[in-house]
Amino acid sequence: MKKHEIPSGRRGTLPGIEPAFRGKVRDIYDLGDRLIIVASDRISAYDSILPTPIPGKGIVLTLLSAAWAEWLTGIPHHILETDVSAFPPPYCGFTRELGGRSMLVRKARRIDLECVVRGYLAGSGWKEYRESGAACGISLPRGLRMSDRLEEPIFTPSTKAESGHDRNITIEEAGAIAGAEAVREVRRLSLEIYRRAHEYAAARGIIIADTKFEFGFIDGRVAVIDEVLTPDSSRFWLAKEYRPGESPPSLDKQYVRDYLDGIGWDHNPPAPDLEETIVRKTSERYRMALTSLFPAINIERYL
Ligand SMILES: Nc1ncnc2c1ncn2[C@@H]1O[C@H](COP(=O)(O)OP(=O)(O)OP(=O)(O)O)[C@@H](O)[C@H]1O
Ligand SMILES: [Mg+2]
Repeated sequence: MKKHEIPSGRRGTLPGIEPAFRGKVRDIYDLGDRLIIVASDRISAYDSILPTPIPGKGIVLTLLSAAWAEWLTGIPHHILETDVSAFPPPYCGFTRELGGRSMLVRKARRIDLECVVRGYLAGSGWKEYRESGAACGISLPRGLRMSDRLEEPIFTPSTKAESGHDRNITIEEAGAIAGAEAVREVRRLSLEIYRRAHEYAAARGIIIADTKFEFGFIDGRVAVIDEVLTPDSSRFWLAKEYRPGESPPSLDKQYVRDYLDGIGWDHNPPAPDLEETIVRKTSERYRMALTSLFPAINIERYL
């Protein structure tokens, strides 16, 4: 086994138990009113799951989501437990398989929106701005450069497409999907979480350029669900690498996308294997996000 590989018993699969749902990254076990969400080391790019996992990635995503949820006092969230030995049976017996990469959560009635907040102009926000001077119907000052910080963070929702690409929509369109009142609430929560997290991260050398939240109703109240402020759901930039006008490398799939572009993959499945150096560097970038933001967390105990 190579040094950075995760032993096969620790990769999040359960002998003899099949998940109710397999997402691109997570396996979901349905317990009725609760779920066990297990983050695998799978990585997706250009809407395909790649054949090569990124060792420890699922642990980074889970530990970060749980740390943020705890840090964000006053924000309702879905997490009940991350200590596997306190999960209901038979799951409590799989501390080795699930440790660090799983959580027991309340099942929510999902609000079918990707709740995106942008503090900087990147990705589809930058693309829309360049074409129209606006993002999701919000007009922005003229003359902004790629990666520029916005005067105020903006809420730019998109659809949660079952397949294919998510599409940026206006607040009115979001209201037609989820109801105007729910949209007001998810907008308020998204902007508040972003503001607080941006300040916290900036003090630790990380710029949260943008991020995406999912929300759902739990006991009639809007709560944040899924993952929170991870490298998969956010653009994290190292403050020391940030130059307005350029596109800083983000702390996630940058090496992977660059590599896939470099070998000329046409984005049609199946995706090609990743080279070992790309896997190692990507794994290191993910871990850097966790150790920069929450240095007290010891990821090694789960590897
Ligand atoms: N508390 C919750 N209640 C209900 N569904 C949840 C909850 N938390 C997360 N989910 C859902 O669990 C799934 C997590 O799996 P994963 O992140 O792998 O999905 P995905 O491939 O990104 O798919 P999606 O496009 O639906 O996000 C998502 O569909 C997410 O909406
Ligand atoms: Mg997801």
